[in-house]
Amino acid sequence: MQANHSHYCEAGASVELGSGFFRADSRPARDFGVLLLRWLAQGTAASQPLTVLDGLAGCGIRGLRYGLEAGATAVWANDADPDRLPLLTKNLAPLRAQGLSLNCTALTIQKLLAQLLLEERRFDLVDLDGFGAATALVPAALEAVRFGGILYLASSDGRSFTGHDRAAAVRRLGAAVRAQPCSWELALRLQLGAIARAAWSLGRGVEPLLSFSEGRTFRTAVRVSRQPAAAEELQLGLQAYCHRCGNHWGQPLLRWKGLGACSCGAEPVLSGPLWRGPLQAPALLQEALSLEDPQRPLLAPAAQRLLLRLLADDGLPPEASALADLGRQLGGGPPPLAALLGALRQAGWRASASGVQAQQFRSDAPWPELLATAARLQSGGSDG
Ligand SMILES: C[S@@+](CC[C@H](N)C(=O)[O-])C[C@H]1O[C@@H](n2cnc3c(N)ncnc32)[C@H](O)[C@@H]1O
Ligand SMILES: [Zn+2]
Repeated sequence: MQANHSHYCEAGASVELGSGFFRADSRPARDFGVLLLRWLAQGTAASQPLTVLDGLAGCGIRGLRYGLEAGATAVWANDADPDRLPLLTKNLAPLRAQGLSLNCTALTIQKLLAQLLLEERRFDLVDLDGFGAATALVPAALEAVRFGGILYLASSDGRSFTGHDRAAAVRRLGAAVRAQPCSWELALRLQLGAIARAAWSLGRGVEPLLSFSEGRTFRTAVRVSRQPAAAEELQLGLQAYCHRCGNHWGQPLLRWKGLGACSCGAEPVLSGPLWRGPLQAPALLQEALSLEDPQRPLLAPAAQRLLLRLLADDGLPPEASALADLGRQLGGGPPPLAALLGALRQAGWRASASGVQAQQFRSDAPWPELLATAARLQSGGSDG
């Protein structure tokens, strides 16, 4: 959206939008960044600085909110567009007035990250809310995060991340990507896989905190650790999808012996390497949510609803399925999701709704059994 020059208020912040890119409906993404920084702040001694780099800042609303609502003591807001610098400086002026350390620059993020590396400057939270695929920025961005800090990254290259431009996916992600029904989750797992590989190559580890999308932008927040956790490498793997029967399955690269044919006999298509570990850190998100002040909530209602959905689904098992795809396999409409999940759980399997995309689910039930359960429900059987 090209916004006009009007004033815009969001949570505790008020900014002028200028004529550049701004989306009011990306508020949940901004709310979550503030929430994560608040969570980080409560584990940091009050005497310690709390520093943020907002590397693709646009009008600067994120930097302002990190300062006003999450207690950042230093904010660096950068946007490559030099025409935005006066606006950025003006919008962030309240932070300087409050005594925060403030930098506003108009460098390309590539140059800025290189400069920060030379100066050995690291931040508690690095927020890169860019266009296209962010993978080329990831190694330098990781270098700018302190150990225990957070990298919050957005990509909007839907075509390659969802397998609709497979050649670009190889170039940008170093991965095979095949279109399949759970495309948002596929994109998030590919992005996390690229972040994990870059972190490991630097000797670091990563823990996903939050992964979500609205179908246009794929957003992941990870905590960066000094070194990988035990067996963290097992989280990188490949995913198979069978177009004939809708089955998904996967394998860690460490145990890769070939993913074989589907139980229905057809050859699957393969995607990866991608992240097969958790997508969310529910305990941490619950803690972060408990920091909300009911009198002055920072989360907009839409953000709160989304967070509660994500909280209820850590992302395991790592292969999700779409109810509509199940319906296509069975012929006719699929059974209601709640009935399917209930029947699977009653039969002793794990089964839960996906927090990433509506009308999707994950279960460890073997696919033929899941299909049979769904078919019984479809024909009106109680499946009890
Ligand atoms: C999605 S917008 C940022 C929106 C903002 N974070 C918000 O929440 O409103 C992306 C911004 O990145 C800037 N940009 C694009 N390429 C850049 C680069 N290589 N380095 C720094 N900034 C860049 C654009 O000028 C644009 O303002
Ligand atoms: Zn099959």
